[in-house]
Amino acid sequence: MSLGCKNTRRPRTGPSSSLGLILAALLLLVGSVATASSAPPAAGIASAHPAATRAGHEILADGGNAFDAAVAVSAALAVAEPYGSGLGGGGFWLLHRAADGHEVMLDGRERAPLAATRDMYLDAQGDPVPGLSIAGPLAAGIPGTPAALVHLAERYGRLPLARSLAPAIALARDGVEVDEQYTRLTGFRLEALRAASGSSPFLDAGEPPAPGWMLRQPALARTLERLAHEGRAGFYAGAVARALVDGVREAGGIWSAEDLAAYRVVEREPVRGRAGELSFTAAALPSSGGIVLAQILNVLADDPLTDLDQASRDHLLIEAMRRAYRDRAAHLGDPDQVAVPVARLLSPDYAAGLRAGIHPERATPSDLLPGVSDPARGSDTTHFSVIDREGNRVAATMSLNYPFGSGFVAPGTGVLLNDEMDDFSIRPGVPNVYGLVGNEANAIAPGKRMLSSMTPTFLDDGRRVAILGTPGGSRIITMVLLATLEFMRGGDAKALVALPRFHHQYLPDRVQFEPGAWSESRAAALAARGHEVQRLERTWGDMQAVIWDRMGDRVEAASDPRGGGLAEVR
Ligand code: GLY
Repeated sequence: MSLGCKNTRRPRTGPSSSLGLILAALLLLVGSVATASSAPPAAGIASAHPAATRAGHEILADGGNAFDAAVAVSAALAVAEPYGSGLGGGGFWLLHRAADGHEVMLDGRERAPLAATRDMYLDAQGDPVPGLSIAGPLAAGIPGTPAALVHLAERYGRLPLARSLAPAIALARDGVEVDEQYTRLTGFRLEALRAASGSSPFLDAGEPPAPGWMLRQPALARTLERLAHEGRAGFYAGAVARALVDGVREAGGIWSAEDLAAYRVVEREPVRGRAGELSFTAAALPSSGGIVLAQILNVLADDPLTDLDQASRDHLLIEAMRRAYRDRAAHLGDPDQVAVPVARLLSPDYAAGLRAGIHPERATPSDLLPGVSDPARGSDTTHFSVIDREGNRVAATMSLNYPFGSGFVAPGTGVLLNDEMDDFSIRPGVPNVYGLVGNEANAIAPGKRMLSSMTPTFLDDGRRVAILGTPGGSRIITMVLLATLEFMRGGDAKALVALPRFHHQYLPDRVQFEPGAWSESRAAALAARGHEVQRLERTWGDMQAVIWDRMGDRVEAASDPRGGGLAEVR
């Protein structure tokens, strides 16, 4: 892909001036190598909540590394932003260890309970029962976040787990002031919160609290303390595990003690690729994020994007999105349970074939692409990015799925359970709540991990490194794609997170764009090529980005202006 790299050709010159130029170039090269910093001059953290960003910096100041800070940020987000993630959910932690360049993805994704069945959300007629995979304990997969935090601390951290969890424990015990976003989302999930939890800790006498209300979670503080002092046994065995299983079963769920005891974090090779001078590292299956991102970049590989007029560029991006999301729906699922043709999907030849099918002037109706007959999904979630002064990095995206997950808190635990089961294909041919379609590869099976869109990502163009990601369900991947293209154009962290967004996901067959993102004429130019164009009422995403500029010896961090996060470099 050509993204308008600076023209490095020099004017024609004679032999002696050529020699001079070569010498000058060598001097420049030596100079620039000498000035490229080998470690960041400061640490940077960007997260969706100020208390979480501060918790991470507190741990760094106490001698922790980026992995300890990631434990602190994850746990603080679980307390302060309960609509986005939590101990009752899961996520993916993408790690880069500076000392040896080791990169790995911690897969802390939820699993289907062992008693789960393929048709568990269908009625006798085979139709989805409304709400069953969205609210209440039957919607909850077995959580992975507590196991991932223990793994992160024990394998990669420098401080004891109890130290890194301390800020979150204090937040849960002493309380955190809620903001407008919290008030809006409790209103949005009010029915689930009331129905599933009796007296929900997230409501003020059963009502959405006003901004400024103190959210206190003493039961969650006690569960975090057990995790801090007993490690994984503090959650997956003993009193907490018993309370989780009893609470779930009494309320109609199907968890067992064996489900919790059997949960394991998996270390996976991330998806890696190149686009011009850029190398990227992103989430692997069971997230679709890295594969879909890589596929889109592969399809665009030979196109001079910055030389194209706006309409042709938008059209090409949308057609690449359409094709990659179709493949997501057709092929992707838990790699431990289904055979996914990853190598074929990521091969340049395959991408060239997809590119050849794109008409330069006309939209390809999605129903003309080979069909898919099944659903998959995604939604509210959270992301944070960290770099420490040694250059260790973490990009982590975590989720409960829908805002406030299932709404169900197992009595006595303070643990809000996810509704991640809704990320499976509930039934062939039925789009999910986000309109995504999926396939057999993502059908429900005991112990299986549901397909995700979460896309924690590292970008590196040799001069700068970016750590980024965002919540936003099915739109996560296209947000990361647009930010990647902006990074390749030289955009800074603020530009990456603020970028206006548009999205296509194969089905429904329409291009969505944020209010204010496109002019009337830009939308009309796409409509003239046969695209259905839809301006949404609300913006989407809450991207968090940290950039280490090696040549400029600078670290910058930015939180999405759409959210209430905090980015700090110290
Ligand atoms: N539940 C959001 C996702 O995993 O994509």
